[in-house]
Amino acid sequence: MQSFRSLDDANVKGKRVLVRVDLNVPMQDGKVADSTRIEEIAPTINELSDKGGKVILLSHLNRPKHPDPKDSLRPVAAEVSRIVKRPVAFAEDCIGPKAEAAIARMKDGDILCLENTRFHLEEEKNDEAFARKLAALGDLFVDDAFSVAHREHAANCAIVTVSGLPAYPGRAMKAELDALEKAFETPEHPVAAIVGGAKISTKLELLGHLLSKVETLIIGGGMANTFLAAQGKSIGKSLCENHLIPNARDILAKAKSLHREIVLPVDVVVAQKLAAHVPSRVVSADEVGATDMILDIGPRSIEQVISVLARTKTLVWNGPFGAFECEPFDNGTIEVAEAVAELTTAGRLVSFAGGGDTVAALNLASVTDRLSHVSTAGGAFLESLEGKTLPGVKVLMVSGK
Ligand code: 3PG
Ligand code: MG
Repeated sequence: MQSFRSLDDANVKGKRVLVRVDLNVPMQDGKVADSTRIEEIAPTINELSDKGGKVILLSHLNRPKHPDPKDSLRPVAAEVSRIVKRPVAFAEDCIGPKAEAAIARMKDGDILCLENTRFHLEEEKNDEAFARKLAALGDLFVDDAFSVAHREHAANCAIVTVSGLPAYPGRAMKAELDALEKAFETPEHPVAAIVGGAKISTKLELLGHLLSKVETLIIGGGMANTFLAAQGKSIGKSLCENHLIPNARDILAKAKSLHREIVLPVDVVVAQKLAAHVPSRVVSADEVGATDMILDIGPRSIEQVISVLARTKTLVWNGPFGAFECEPFDNGTIEVAEAVAELTTAGRLVSFAGGGDTVAALNLASVTDRLSHVSTAGGAFLESLEGKTLPGVKVLMVSGK
């Protein structure tokens, strides 16, 4: 049984609290282009500050191979300040004299952001000596960066294992862990999963694991084409991973032997090329022409998915149904998203979604707030869905209780 320390029990007053956050946010022209991840961690930061902790933020940004001003967290710290509505100081290094001096100046309740941890190459090596230097800056450790938990790096893993610092999940991390538990450990059945997106190749493990967890697997997006091809259907010029057709066949066979239902499109929207507002038409999934490209699911498929959802109690969703970034091929994803939001609001469905494209698609459908839980994590969400225990989560676990 997993168990974690609770932030409720942490005595942070006057303490230096190292808080691992994910400030790896999209930047444009030196400014933060999307603050979603910062909004998520703001409650943890403000709570620790309100309780009188000295809040020291640790994060990476991008994948620098050496310190580079374009990867500095300084402008991100300014955005954190705007969102938490209090001053956030900045230190030009995450270890050593600059970090130490900035921390020495902190008063209870102050917030400080340290420079990009990846400016030290030891970070990605989970280097113990580097982790000890980080750990020496704090009295306790709070991890609120679920989206980095699949990385075994110094500022989220070795920092705990080498130091014995008491480690707590932050509020956003805890919400992600609770949602995963509710979806996979203690879900209300029947459980369905929607897996979409372009490629099966990145989701083979996920599909295999989900089959053991869900009653119904709904497959959408480009990856559905490979399944249609595996069933002997002609898919024209559609995206297809031909070399994975045998894997798709195996998944279909496994579903049959486990008595799981797999839902594939029964009709599709096709066009001659992928571009916004090109002429398109709806055809049965059995009648795709030689020059057609499948770009979305059709109305009968949408109805089919919604009827499955109407008898589902718990839903896990990763990946869009069609080429949602291009109108009108966003229609299938939006209609299903609206149905999920309605069922959730009506208390008939518990809905969890995550993954980069998925969040973008749900935002497009304006339903993000109406789902039970939407994870902003990409890789960490996917790996959790594959049934893996993430290294960054493992170090937060305490045995017994
Ligand atoms: C992310 O944005 O997915 C996380 O911050 C991890 O970043 P990384 O993929 O560069 O390790
Ligand atoms: Mg990434």
